[in-house]
Amino acid sequence: MSLGLNVIETTWLLLGILFFLAVSIHTISLYFPNECEKSQAFILFQDLIRYGKTKKSKRDTWLRVFDIPKRWFWHFYAVSVLWNGLLVVVSLRAIQRDEPYPSWLTDTLSFLAGSPATHGQDPQVCSVAVQVLLWIHCLRRLAECLYVSVFSDGVIHVVQYVFGLGYYILLGLTVLCWDRMTGGKGSPAPPVLAQLGVVQAAGVLLFGWASLLQHRSLITLARMRTGASGAVETLAHRVPSGGWFELVSCPHYLAELLIYVSLSLVSGGVSLTWGLVVLYVLFNQVLAALLCHQFYRSKFESYPQHRKALIPFIL
Ligand SMILES: NC(=O)c1ccc[n+]([C@@H]2O[C@H](COP(=O)([O-])OP(=O)(O)OC[C@H]3O[C@@H](n4cnc5c(N)ncnc54)[C@H](OP(=O)(O)O)[C@@H]3O)[C@@H](O)[C@H]2O)c1
Repeated sequence: MSLGLNVIETTWLLLGILFFLAVSIHTISLYFPNECEKSQAFILFQDLIRYGKTKKSKRDTWLRVFDIPKRWFWHFYAVSVLWNGLLVVVSLRAIQRDEPYPSWLTDTLSFLAGSPATHGQDPQVCSVAVQVLLWIHCLRRLAECLYVSVFSDGVIHVVQYVFGLGYYILLGLTVLCWDRMTGGKGSPAPPVLAQLGVVQAAGVLLFGWASLLQHRSLITLARMRTGASGAVETLAHRVPSGGWFELVSCPHYLAELLIYVSLSLVSGGVSLTWGLVVLYVLFNQVLAALLCHQFYRSKFESYPQHRKALIPFIL
């Protein structure tokens, strides 16, 4: 692979670049609104980067053909809970019973990591910890989609839907690839506690705090649509307030970014693979937050001026 990157690292790098370009093109386009509105390519671009409330309400019929209900978001997390749950079980069996990975998984990892399996290499404890945290994250998000969030009739593009389904499969494989690339070469693994240190502990703490922030933010959004009894009273989009919403328009996107930073810490802190994953999530969430922030500012005249999109006082 060019730059010495393997398939999995190249994939995350390309995804990061793709979303960086999307942020850049969108930002530049704000200076040329009239020219952009006339371009069919730009209209398609906007349709591919926007979803939910930030999608334009008046869109051509041919674009609507690709619409998928946004309330199907739970599909992503259901796939992830099943897939990443399976990978956790496979890893635990490898550690406890010394069972090798199934051959289809070994072959897939060899292709993605660009290196053959090392005989006798058990998954590292911090890799299993990342797998378990990722699984907990997706289980919580699944429960929130099904039991907390109140969805309107918003839509996502079928390309975004297919990407979302594949995303958590790729992420689970990334954890195992990273483990293979950094694990000991057949030597006995150090004791469990010796594999976990201050950095991992900080990662777990950050994971807990960011998960709480995301959960509370999603509850705030849901309560804006329900009455005291919990019954849905409106599907309108309103101005969120309270807590971290006073600082940024999208604290749940900031929390998402911090959750990936925390997984990176639990994996050991410094690694190219996790750095590229975090970079992708950064640009992905920056794009979504900017679109959401601009939506609020254009729709609500009295939208708080000091409020940023994603990162308090900065962006
Ligand atoms: N890792 C990734 O690549 C990735 C990608 C995308 C999302 N995510 C994460 O998934 C989570 C959900 O993302 P999302 O984009 O769906 O968030 P979102 O657009 O803010 O929607 C969350 C929920 O709140 C509702 N809502 C949004 N704005 C509202 C408002 N102003 N008034 C009332 N209700 C409102 C939405 O309903 P409607 O939209 O149906 O109206 C939906 O039910 C986030 O935490 C995000 O970080 C991660």
